[in-house]
Amino acid sequence: MIGTIQHAAALLSACRSAVALTGAGISVESGIPPFRGKGGLWEKIDPMEYAHIDAYKRDPEAVWRVLFMELKKVLDKALPNAGHAGLRDLEEMGILKTIVTQNIDGLHQKSGNRDVIEFHGTFASHSCMACERRLDTSQVLLETLPPRCACNGILRPDVIMFGEIIPVDHLQRAQILAASCDVMLVVGTSATVQPAAYLPVIAKRNGAAVVEINAEPTPLTGNISDVTLLGKAGQVLGDLVAAVRRLR
Ligand code: APR
Repeated sequence: MIGTIQHAAALLSACRSAVALTGAGISVESGIPPFRGKGGLWEKIDPMEYAHIDAYKRDPEAVWRVLFMELKKVLDKALPNAGHAGLRDLEEMGILKTIVTQNIDGLHQKSGNRDVIEFHGTFASHSCMACERRLDTSQVLLETLPPRCACNGILRPDVIMFGEIIPVDHLQRAQILAASCDVMLVVGTSATVQPAAYLPVIAKRNGAAVVEINAEPTPLTGNISDVTLLGKAGQVLGDLVAAVRRLR
């Protein structure tokens, strides 16, 4: 522990408004593999080959066969874990205002958090690349790949792929929240993909305390993070919420 649960709990219980930035690590205990590090998806698949919008435009069937079919199987089964529940509890306690998530699994909303910015989009819906019609992923037929719209256009999940920009409204709102919060909880992200990875820097530069929860150190550890709690997000967030409750 580079910092203590008690220190993090004191910061949270005294804060006016906390914002969380989450990454794949918070969903690992729900059975969704991370992208980097141990068991990371990008250790097996080249993201530039299969997670880039140009790759999808070039060969959507290959992207479905190599990446999206596996991802969909895992997402369809995934349920919120204790880490998601901890952030829900912090919202219910009036401490956590918003979650900015890089995840596309919808587990924060399933866990009960009401204000979630899906910075990298969502796999819960698809859009037609021809007529732009949007439909729920549960209505997308996968008998033939890539899936097609009624207009025969190719459907794509509403995730932000490499080579695409973050929706401006999400980017601006996330930056404003980062600049105005007094605590930023950074949970389960390798803090390597921009512009998400810069949000903790914005928070820090605007006077917020940064509390990091991760299974291992990241580029934030020891310079941007005021407290780094090393461990599994489910366990650490459960302990952290219990410590905050004891201070109230
Ligand atoms: N508890 C806490 N942290 C964990 C756990 C766990 N159980 N398991 C893994 N981690 C940590 C890893 O140590 C790592 O720092 O979660 C982080 C996962 O990092 P990435 O896989 O890089 O995920 P993320 O930071 O969300 O990636 C950002 O990259 O590929 C793009 O669009 C993709 O949104 C993704 C973005």
